[in-house]
Amino acid sequence: MNYKLIHLPEVESTNTYAITMLAQNRPEEGSVVVTDFQTNGKGTEANTWESEKGKNLTFSLILYPTFAADQQFVLNKAISLGINDFLKSELHYYSITIKWPNDIYINDKKVCGILIQNSVLGNKLDYVIVGIGLNVNQTHFISNAPNPVSMKMTSGLEYNLEQMLYKLLQSISKRYDQVKAGKIKKIEFDYLNVLYRLMEWHDYFIKGIVIRAKITGTNDYGQLLLETESEKVVVCDHKEIKFIF
Ligand code: BTN
Repeated sequence: MNYKLIHLPEVESTNTYAITMLAQNRPEEGSVVVTDFQTNGKGTEANTWESEKGKNLTFSLILYPTFAADQQFVLNKAISLGINDFLKSELHYYSITIKWPNDIYINDKKVCGILIQNSVLGNKLDYVIVGIGLNVNQTHFISNAPNPVSMKMTSGLEYNLEQMLYKLLQSISKRYDQVKAGKIKKIEFDYLNVLYRLMEWHDYFIKGIVIRAKITGTNDYGQLLLETESEKVVVCDHKEIKFIF
């Protein structure tokens, strides 16, 4: 994919900026709004995204997938895998996993969050904005985000942000190409392989109660599947489950 970078020193939120751009015209696929600082970075579920000025990658990528809207979960997986691939190549000796649905973890800590905003027209995706916040060089986090970590906190190294953005976009591109080429089974397989806590027994808050269960995978609707000790299958949407650490 050809990327077109739109660099802003400061902006409220790159996702919001991308939505405004889309309301005015149709920027090329592969347009990337990247900023040094967001004054109101958005996380999932109305959370804010903390990112110190000039320390991390905060950007939004605009895509126009031509596949059906019900494949958006595959796209989510492919994007997460692209980031996971990139981090694996930078941080060889650490456990890099995807915490369902699409947080990227180093051991038990979150290094990257993704906020995907779709617009659907009929059964097609009109556009997709992939907002990515990757903690690179920040070493102190002040918000009440539960378990943040950065690449620098992990390896001790200081990273060149421009270089990291370039490599990260290349990794994402490879995975996006796989989706476009219909390699859905491969995406599903690779995603499962790096899924955080797959087949491990842990306690979860599910629909208000603590349940001991193991994650067994996801279904076609992007929901998380777990099995309890009494072999009951539990199907969860994002808001219905909290991981207990
Ligand atoms: C999460 O809560 O895990 C998702 C965080 C997503 C943060 C990124 S930073 C760039 C883009 N612009 C935003 O306002 N949010 C996303």
